[in-house]
Amino acid sequence: MHFAHAGQAGDGKQLPVDLFECIEEAIHLLSLQKDRPRIHYNNMMAPDTLVSGNEQTLTQLFINLFSNARDASPPESPVDIRAEQQNGHIVIHIRDYGYGIAPQYIDRVFEPFFTTKPAGQGTGLGLALVYSIVEDHGGHIDVISPVKDGMGTEFIISFPAGNVLT
Ligand SMILES: Nc1ncnc2c1ncn2[C@@H]1O[C@H](COP(=O)(O)OP(=O)(O)O)[C@@H](O)[C@H]1O
Ligand SMILES: [Mg+2]
Repeated sequence: MHFAHAGQAGDGKQLPVDLFECIEEAIHLLSLQKDRPRIHYNNMMAPDTLVSGNEQTLTQLFINLFSNARDASPPESPVDIRAEQQNGHIVIHIRDYGYGIAPQYIDRVFEPFFTTKPAGQGTGLGLALVYSIVEDHGGHIDVISPVKDGMGTEFIISFPAGNVLT
């Protein structure tokens, strides 16, 4: 949580942030947890996909989403990350092939302290933080589970495309 809030306290300066790099960093940091099952994160986003915001909190957002995907997926599963530009927005899709979210829980996953994980494993704060980071960046988040063509979960995040101010 300390990392999550680092850099948020100051003047809230908005800088151009490359989401491709945030995702690479999140994948790298998760790969350091050698005691967790291995997951194949496929970063299919174009390099230099810019939004304006905070690089550290945006990296934390991806860490939270990717670690949830990993927790829900069998070892060696893929997690696919792609993005497209749409009317001045960058729309990011994060799709896993895990066990999905039960229909009775789907409306609650962004609630603080909502978790289906055993005590000691889940805090229920990961997606609440994701939600507030998305809001702080003027974005929007949706979740679909199970994904239409089968199993797994997809998170869809839309951010205003970053204009690079110098
Ligand atoms: N990719 C996913 N696949 C299946 N369930 C998920 C996924 N992401 C989130 N969830 C569900 O949402 C709950 C809340 O997630 P989160 O806020 O990160 O808390 P935590 O991971 O500590 O449980 C999880 O406990 C799980 O039930
Ligand atoms: Mg979590």
